[in-house]
Amino acid sequence: MTPAVVATGLVKEFEKGRYTLWQRLRREPDRRTRFRAVDGIDLRVETGEIFGLLGPNGAGKTTTMKMLSTLLEPTSGSIEVLGIDVARHPREVRARLGAMLSGERSLYWKLTGRENLEYFAALYHVPPKDTRERIDRSLAAVKLSDREDDYVERYSTGMRQRLALARALLPDPPLIILDEPTVGLDPQSSRDLRDRVRDLRAQGRTILLTTHYMEEADQLCDRVAIIDHGKIVALDSPAALKRTIRAEEIVRLEIGLRGDGTGLLAQLGRAGTVARQQQTNGTLAVTIHCSSARDLVPAAFDAARAHGATVQHVEVVPVTLEDVFLSVTGRELRE
Ligand SMILES: Nc1ncnc2c1ncn2[C@@H]1O[C@H](COP(=O)(O)OP(=O)(O)OP(=O)(O)O)[C@@H](O)[C@H]1O
Ligand SMILES: [Mg+2]
Repeated sequence: MTPAVVATGLVKEFEKGRYTLWQRLRREPDRRTRFRAVDGIDLRVETGEIFGLLGPNGAGKTTTMKMLSTLLEPTSGSIEVLGIDVARHPREVRARLGAMLSGERSLYWKLTGRENLEYFAALYHVPPKDTRERIDRSLAAVKLSDREDDYVERYSTGMRQRLALARALLPDPPLIILDEPTVGLDPQSSRDLRDRVRDLRAQGRTILLTTHYMEEADQLCDRVAIIDHGKIVALDSPAALKRTIRAEEIVRLEIGLRGDGTGLLAQLGRAGTVARQQQTNGTLAVTIHCSSARDLVPAAFDAARAHGATVQHVEVVPVTLEDVFLSVTGRELRE
C-alpha cells in the first residue's frame, strides 16, 4: 500500500533577528542569522494509522505540519503525500488532505455551524451537488448535528474545535493533519475530540497530529515520533518507546532534609538511577529508576535516616513518554 506520507531529509531554515528598513537605508550590515527550525526529518506515515509528533515548544512540529500540508515550502528535502510529490503537484495534494493548523481556527461567530461549513465548502471547491451530504457527514463525524443551527458564538470552546475539525473533513480527505487538536480544551472535551479522531481512523483515514501532551500521544497514537530541536530523536509505538527505558519501576520520593542533600543523593544513586532531582526549601524531590521498588523503598528509608532526613512521600509510578523524552534529550518535556 502507498504510505500516506513520506518525507525525506526535510529541512526548514528561518531568519533569526531583524533587519529593518531603517537599518537597510543606513547601510548597516545585515546581522540576521539563519537557523534550522526543522533539521533533516525523515518520516514515513502508513495508511490508516494515527501518527503523532510529540515535542516541546519550538521543536518544529507546526513548521513540519505546514510543510506537509503545502502551506510552507521546505528549504530542502522532499515530501510525498499518498504517492504524490508535494512540490510538483501541490493542488492535487491539497485536494486529498484536510488540515486543522494552529492559528487558523477562525470560524465566523455570527454564522451558525452549518453556515460556516457552507461557506468553507464553497471556498474549498466542494462540488455543489455533494455539499449538503458532505456537511451532514462532517457534522455527524464530530457529533454536532444537533447544534448545527446554533450561532458559533454560543458554542463552547470544545464545540468550536470540533467544528474546525468538521471543516477539515469537508473535502472527504483520506489524510487528516491536526496541529495540537486538543490545546486549550478541558479534559472532557479533549477526550471527546480524541474519540472523534479514533472514529476517523476506524473509517480508514490516516491521521497525523502534533501534541506536547505525552498522555495524549501515549493514548491516541499508533506510533509517535519524538521531536526536539527540529530532529526526530525517537520513533516507535508508545509501548515500544517506553520499553527502551530499562527501569522496570520508577519511584518518586519526597524527602524532608536537614541541610544539604548531596550525601543522601549519592547513597540513593547506588540503590537505583536518579533520573530527576529538585531541592526546594528543605525538601528533596527525587525520581529513581530501579529494577524493584520493593527493594528500593526500604533502602531509601535507610538512606534518609542515615542522613538525618525523613521520607514524607513515596509513590511508585509507571514509565511514561516523559521518561523517554528525558532519557533521549536529557531534558524535561515540560520545562
Ligand atoms: N515564520 C517564521 N519565521 C521565523 N521563525 C519561525 C517562523 N515560524 C516558526 N519559527 C521558529 O521555528 C521554531 C519552530 O517553531 P514551530 O512553530 O514549528 O514549533 P512547535 O514545535 O510547533 O512549537 P509549539 O509547541 O510551541 O507549537 C521556533 O523557534 C520558531 O520561533
Ligand atoms: Mg506548534
